[in-house]
Formats: sequence, structure tokens, C-alpha cells
Amino acid sequence: MNVGIDKISFFVPPYYVDMTDLALAREVDPNKFHIGIGQDKMAVNKKTQDIVTFAANAAKNILTDEDKKQIDMVIVGTESGIDESKASAVVLHRLLGIQPFARAFEIKEACYAGTAALQYAVAHINIHPESKVLVVASDIAKYGLASGGEPTQGVGAIAMLVSADPRILQLNNDSVALTQDIYDFWRPVGHDYPMVDGQLSNETYIQAFQKVWKEYQQRHKKSFADFHALTFHIPYTKMGKKALLAALEDEAPEEQERILAKYEASIVYSRQVGNLYTGSLYLGLISLLENAKLKAGEQIGLFSYGSGTVAEFFSGTLVGGFENQLLTELHQKQLAERKGLSITEYEEMFNDHLEVDADKEYDDALLYSIASISNTVRTYKED
Ligand code: HMG
Repeated sequence: MNVGIDKISFFVPPYYVDMTDLALAREVDPNKFHIGIGQDKMAVNKKTQDIVTFAANAAKNILTDEDKKQIDMVIVGTESGIDESKASAVVLHRLLGIQPFARAFEIKEACYAGTAALQYAVAHINIHPESKVLVVASDIAKYGLASGGEPTQGVGAIAMLVSADPRILQLNNDSVALTQDIYDFWRPVGHDYPMVDGQLSNETYIQAFQKVWKEYQQRHKKSFADFHALTFHIPYTKMGKKALLAALEDEAPEEQERILAKYEASIVYSRQVGNLYTGSLYLGLISLLENAKLKAGEQIGLFSYGSGTVAEFFSGTLVGGFENQLLTELHQKQLAERKGLSITEYEEMFNDHLEVDADKEYDDALLYSIASISNTVRTYKED
């Protein structure tokens, strides 16, 4: 049976910081951020916008009333949960009006969780071909003001509808996964920001790609020549490129050029957004689909990486007519209409924390933003 991604969209909040402004404020050469890290803009959010807000906004772009009747599972991959117990997927299920006889839960393993959710959805559809699964990857990547990780922050969500006979990307059931217990990036319970060993995280990412890619090539007798493009988890856009360059070393120059050109198409959106954690690989996929010249039948490789660490390489085949399912105009408009913040505004927004124990009403124009908190329960401004 053919199972995979039938629809896909992303949402980022309506604010960003220009990386030149951030570099100048931190007394860093702007080229370090634009070229060394590979980021031009960084998405930021108000305190009244959380992972449920981003998830609902991304999902509403793709779901029809018919989909809501057929979805019987909602999975949110996140490492920015708003509750240690109750899953954001349960709230999302209600906000979106999905039929009641469904499973809804959250899944965690750093940035890998979006892929874990996708693979769980695929397994479910293989057993229940008539159903549809809503997979959401939603996160707030924050490291702290003037921290080493600050230029690699970002915010937003990806929503995917997974079904039989998908209209965008049919997954090839060829995953190779790798688990290693490494502390390159982690966030102990109670900590607002992650602990991160930046250089170790870079090295582990590159080595993890080399390990799964080598194993994948051996198991499936495939090479770069079998792929039209490869997309990566993109914590910052230079990261995937570093892993790719290391693996491409022995390839002919024209083969390197071919693969690298497609990588550039896959990072157009991430350059303007930053790290989405669980959603980053899929923002790269959307960017590739909407910015590269691709044809039905072409093979796309996907490298998923979550610190801690779990990595996975898998692939998909582009379905005939996939271009008719893309929301390119909506996505580009969303990015273009954001408001650029001054560094002072960004820092004020960053330091403005939501008081979860204070009963309060809020006034944020964004739909699905937090409207009030009462007895620690968030209510959202709805459609
Ligand atoms: P840093 O120490 O600020 O930067 O840390 P650097 O000194 O390593 O420089 C970065 C690059 O800029 C270097 O290029 C410099 O040469 C270059 P490279 O040698 O690496 O190719 N550079 C310049 N280029 C042009 N003009 C200049 C200039 N100056 C320097 N003037 C780091 C950077 C990414 C480590 C830091 O921001 C960080 O810790 N970020 C967070 C961790 C991270 O994103 N790690 C990525 C892999 S782990 C992962 O992907 C998982 C994750 O998403 C979490 C999860 O799974 O949940 C993070």
C-alpha cells in the first residue's frame, strides 16, 4: 500500500529579528550569522503564543471538514510542551473540531520527535488504510539572550496529513535509525532553556548522518545518484551543508554541485525562520518542494536528527500532481508579512514571560493565541 504525506503546511508567528541587527547588537561580524551560521532572519513569538497556537494555525491551513471526520489520530511531536502530563494534542484535537473517536498524544525525543510521529502515523495507516492521521511538529527554540545558541533560535510548527494514496510524498518504507546516548543538547525538567555543548552537537550530527547514510547505502544498495535531492534537519542552515559536504567528499564535482543546489532550495525558508526543532526537517521539505524544480517519481532523501541522540534516514517518492497540493503562495505571503522587531523590542518580548499561575485575560490579535489563563488552564482565541 502507498502511505505518506497527503498535505503539508507551516506556521510561524508574525515577528522576526534581522540577523544583521542581532549581530551588531552582540558585537559580532554580521557575516558570522549570515554566512558562518547561514541565517538571515529569526522567528520570535509573544508570550500569548505557544505550541498549541502554532500547531492549530499550521493545521487549519490544510484540514477540510471531510478530513476532520476521517482523522482518528492526532500526534504532536514537541520538546516545548506546556504541560508535564496532558498532551497538547488533546487541546489541538478540540480546537480543530476533529471527530471524537480518535487517539491524541504527544511524543518526545528532541528534534527527532516529528519523525517519530510521522513513522507512527504511517504504521497506523498501514493497518487502517481508511483513516487519516494529523501529525504536527511544534516548538519554541530558545537558548537565552546573548547565549551561544541565540543566533540559532526559531519558532513555529509544521502540520502534515498522513494517509493512504498520498498526493505529495509516498514514503518508501526504507528507514535506517540510530540511537546513541550522548549529552550534546538536553533540557532537564524545570529548566527554561536547554543545556548545549555546541561543538559536540555539531560533531554528533555529522557523524550520525555518516553512520545512517552508510548503513542505508549498504542495506538498500543505493548512492547519491539514486536521489534527486536530500533534505536535512536544519538547526541552522550551515549545519546540513556541513554534514552533506563531509559525505560528498568522494563524489565527482558535478554530483556535488547537483546535490548542493537542491540543498540550497531546501533552506530558503529556514534561512528566514531559524530552528523549529521537531519541525525543521519538514520546513526544509516544504522549502524544497516549493523552491526547486522537481518532477513526479523523483526520490527525496530525508535526514532526521534529534539531540540526545536519535537519527534516521528515510526516503520518499514524489507523487504525480504533487505541485497542486502545495501552499506556496500562502507560505511566502506569511513570511513576507511578518513585522521586523528592533533588538529592544525582541529583548522585551523575550523577557516577557507568561505567568501560568496568575488568572488573567490577554489580548493578542492572532487567532488561536492565548485568550486567558484561569486556575493554570489556558483558553485560546478561536476561529
Ligand atoms: P559559535 O561558537 O558561536 O560559532 O557556535 P563558531 O565559532 O563555531 O562559528 C560558526 C561558524 O561561523 C564557523 O563556520 C565559523 O568559521 C564561521 P564553520 O567553521 O563551522 O564552517 N564564522 C564566520 N563566517 C563568516 N564570517 C565571519 C565568521 N566568523 C565565524 N566573520 C553553534 C555555533 C552552532 C555551535 C551555536 O550557535 C550553538 O550552540 N547552537 C545550538 C546548538 C546547535 O544548533 N547544534 C546543531 C547540531 S545539534 C541539532 O541539530 C539538534 C538541535 O536542533 C536540538 C534538538 O535536537 O532538539 C539543536
